[in-house]
Amino acid sequence: MMLDLKRLENELMAWLGESRVRILDAMNTPLHVDVKSGRNDLVTNVDKANQRFLTGKILAAYPDARIEGEEGTGDKVHDLAGIVFFLDPIDGTMNFVKQHANFAVMIGVYENGAPRFGAILDVMRNEVLTGGPTVAPKRNGRRLPLPKDHELKDGLMGASGPLLIHNKLNVQAINEASSGTRITGSAGMEFKAIIEGQQIGYISYLQPWDVAAGMAIGAHFGLQVTRPDGKAINMLEPGFVVAALPSAYREIRQLIVVD
Ligand code: IPD
Ligand code: CA
Ligand code: CA
Ligand code: CA
Repeated sequence: MMLDLKRLENELMAWLGESRVRILDAMNTPLHVDVKSGRNDLVTNVDKANQRFLTGKILAAYPDARIEGEEGTGDKVHDLAGIVFFLDPIDGTMNFVKQHANFAVMIGVYENGAPRFGAILDVMRNEVLTGGPTVAPKRNGRRLPLPKDHELKDGLMGASGPLLIHNKLNVQAINEASSGTRITGSAGMEFKAIIEGQQIGYISYLQPWDVAAGMAIGAHFGLQVTRPDGKAINMLEPGFVVAALPSAYREIRQLIVVD
């Protein structure tokens, strides 16, 4: 089945709109917060409920699709054949719990391993970014100007806090060579900043559902998204991710030190 991208865009806008109302409603009662792998790795009742909600919507519309979602109500995807929805029901759960802001809902849709469409909902700002390799990026349904390519020194770099603190991949020097460093604690917010032209790049350690939507939207304007050694992202496993506009990407690759 070939995806109808217009239909998909309308569906994602509708599902994310509903999802947002449900999340805001759930924020009126105390959250149930569980620790996953460690004290910095949290999941809430809202992450789980939103994954269940979106999984239901996706499977009702695309019964043959498979879902790789963080909170585990979908399938465990071992190959990328057919249509795969990568779903992060709350990206930036720590921000959600501590800040009640700066978190996203992300859906990336891939067909036979190729990115086709992505959507990033910034819940508290009520902004949905959509787009894909063949679909121009939009915010709340309106075309966005495409981000401009800059030298690294002329753009802000996003970073993962732990990578910067431990200077993995030589990120301290990379970020020092930029206009400045921004850390948001949400991969979705970082990709949103790149798509909106506020930031030139981002380096982090990410899961497939953290990167799927941003990589699909960024493909429209040549956003480079690779492993630190330049290899393509394997959407079946986590790993380090370098995302940047082309000029900055080339500079970053020269500065990066692969451990
Ligand atoms: C996390 C955030 C964070 C990134 C982590 C992700 P989650 O997502 O995107 O910015 O540094 O690697 O796991 O777990 O809150 O969905
Ligand atoms: Ca998580
Ligand atoms: Ca998540
Ligand atoms: Ca995430």
